[in-house]
Amino acid sequence: MSQSPERYGSPAIALHWLTAALVIVVGTLGLLHDSWSKSTQAFWINIHALIGLLLWVLVMVRLWWRRREPPPALPAGIDPLTRRLAGPVHALLYGLLLVIPVIGIVTFVFHGRVFDFGLFQVDFGIKRNRAIFHPTEDIHGYLAYALFTLAGIHLLAALWHQFVRHDGFLRRMWPAR
Ligand code: HEM
Ligand code: HEM
Repeated sequence: MSQSPERYGSPAIALHWLTAALVIVVGTLGLLHDSWSKSTQAFWINIHALIGLLLWVLVMVRLWWRRREPPPALPAGIDPLTRRLAGPVHALLYGLLLVIPVIGIVTFVFHGRVFDFGLFQVDFGIKRNRAIFHPTEDIHGYLAYALFTLAGIHLLAALWHQFVRHDGFLRRMWPAR
């Protein structure tokens, strides 16, 4: 679409910022799990799970679109560190965004919880099993912290390019021209 040699196309940009916004919403809800009262906790964990599932679907759409419209090549003058790290860091971000929700689903259903989509419910009929949901909940949490850390480094790298190197790198993913 509006993909050019210098910047991502508008579908990729829209999906990037939607993904970033949803990571903040889902992550914040995740961190708040223990703050909810007993009577509202199940409601909020369900909201966390549904937005997390939406995020997973969006990442799949993004990866499908990425195959149709590969990212623009990095500018010739880009520093060697960015050239070496951008690919692996983005791959790791995608990996975490795909794996965290899957472990979240395991934690959710083995906690005996039921997905409530409003109009219908999805009940796997699995009994609460502490031996499974306890370790998976920990793994889900640790991977989420790894995602926050990596996304934070990614944000700092974008700001470094913008305000220290002044190389216009952020424009590649910025919505406005
Ligand atoms: C949770 C938050 C975020 C996540 C999960 C995330 C994830 C990603 C991923 C996976 C890519 C690779 C896109 C692709 O090639 O398919 C990317 C690219 C990019 N992101 Fe983010 N991002 C986040 C937040 C941000 C923020 C806050 C900024 C800037 C302020 C930013 C700036 C960029 C830029 C400039 C690129 C393009 C890099 C390039 O040209 O190779 N991102 N992001
Ligand atoms: C990328 C998406 C997601 C992120 C960033 C995320 C993040 C988090 C975080 C930070 C926690 C708290 C961990 C702790 O207290 O140490 C958490 C807990 C949890 N998440 Fe997620 N999550 C995501 C997706 C999902 C999905 C899709 C599901 C289910 C379908 C899910 C189910 C759960 C459950 C069941 C808990 C434990 C709640 C409890 O009983 O205390 N998460 N998540």
